[in-house]
Amino acid sequence: MSTFQAPKGTYDLLPPNSATYLAVREAISAPLKNSGYGYVETPGFENVELFARGVGESTDIVTKEMYAFETKGGDQLALRPEGTASVLRAALEANLHKAGNLPVKLWYSGSYYRYERPQKGRYRHFSQVGAEAIGAEDPALDAELIILADQAYRSLGLRNFRILLNSLGDKECRPVYRAALQEFLRGLDLDEETLRRAEINPLRVLDDKRADVQKQLTGAPSMPDYLCDACTAYHKEVRELLDAAGVVYEDDAKLVRGLDYYTRTTFEFVHDGLGSQSAVGGGGRYDGLSEMIGGPSLPSVGWALGVDRTVLALEAEGVDLELPATTSVFAVPLGEEARRVLFGKVTELRKAGIATDFSYGGKGLKGAMKNANRSGARFTLVAGERDLADGVVQLKDMESGEQGPVALDAVLETLKAKLG
Ligand code: HAM
Repeated sequence: MSTFQAPKGTYDLLPPNSATYLAVREAISAPLKNSGYGYVETPGFENVELFARGVGESTDIVTKEMYAFETKGGDQLALRPEGTASVLRAALEANLHKAGNLPVKLWYSGSYYRYERPQKGRYRHFSQVGAEAIGAEDPALDAELIILADQAYRSLGLRNFRILLNSLGDKECRPVYRAALQEFLRGLDLDEETLRRAEINPLRVLDDKRADVQKQLTGAPSMPDYLCDACTAYHKEVRELLDAAGVVYEDDAKLVRGLDYYTRTTFEFVHDGLGSQSAVGGGGRYDGLSEMIGGPSLPSVGWALGVDRTVLALEAEGVDLELPATTSVFAVPLGEEARRVLFGKVTELRKAGIATDFSYGGKGLKGAMKNANRSGARFTLVAGERDLADGVVQLKDMESGEQGPVALDAVLETLKAKLG
């Protein structure tokens, strides 16, 4: 029998690379924790209807990419393809919006599932860190989120990303634009499927990657020309706040997102070293989503950054994160008595917060030192019968190769001093 493999479109995170993923999640969430966002965690699956209504019946995510299933109890569920609808559902269910402290600011980190055609940067299981600010209409909130994402990427050392910014209007001006675009698209020479899309979701056609379609789209009505006064003023203020913060962005009138809930501010973070799956993160305002899922009017804004693609972006830029050493000290006992004594030392060092590991499995000195080397530990502690009789262990600096005895009861203090 052949061994099992990870399902198509998925991959495992394993040491040592998995440490980079943890560091990326930490770097993205740090600015959020520092800005009033509280941690939220929701189930990995939800009622399928939540996503159908929230993300949009006609989106690719809902029609083609959802892992939907019926439970033995007859519930219609789906693995979450994104986080916004779930987080808003959770906030509404717990009445967080009624606690009188709007906006409710939440951040999350987790796994998401989309049945997409796998390729580099596009997986069926991927992870995001996201933020949602629920219940306030304020351009400063849109700006805050974009600034925090920019800060997160910069703190990781990323430089070759760009921020694309657009406004999709609101319930006053978007329908007028939509109708104008539809009228324009009807006059083009498009295949049947695209014409159908133009009827259901015309803005998606702007996102068509085919050159012949893009060519026909020159001269298409442009959203900025259709924004109402309120949306124009709102967008102007978002842009001014970003300018004041020194965050560079590009206006992109053709930026449309793959989810239907967006209104007004929309943005995407793209990285130029990633080929076709260049969006490392995205988000925007979703003023109507709460009502779409049965809640009160709660204008909101948020984003999600893709952890997998952020790691690819780091690789593309050749950025090596400074990761903390996983093991600082490695203990090698020679003989039974040493095993007992050193194991006690290991526990003592760990309690003091020093990352320490132990040679298990009764290896000889040579094999154990190989393990010590591989662990990346800066120091090893070696002890045999004679050392114990003298009340010492041998402390070896793996960088300089220097070695010398240290009294057993001075090991902790000595290592503390040496490790700074
Ligand atoms: P999204 O643009 O669908 O937005 O996903 C956000 C990010 O997740 C993408 O930019 C990408 O980095 C990553 N991502 C998406 N699909 C995949 C995939 N198949 N493989 C690898 N990475 C992927 C949302 O999900 C919205 N909920 C963002 C948001 C929050 N809007 C408002 N609040």
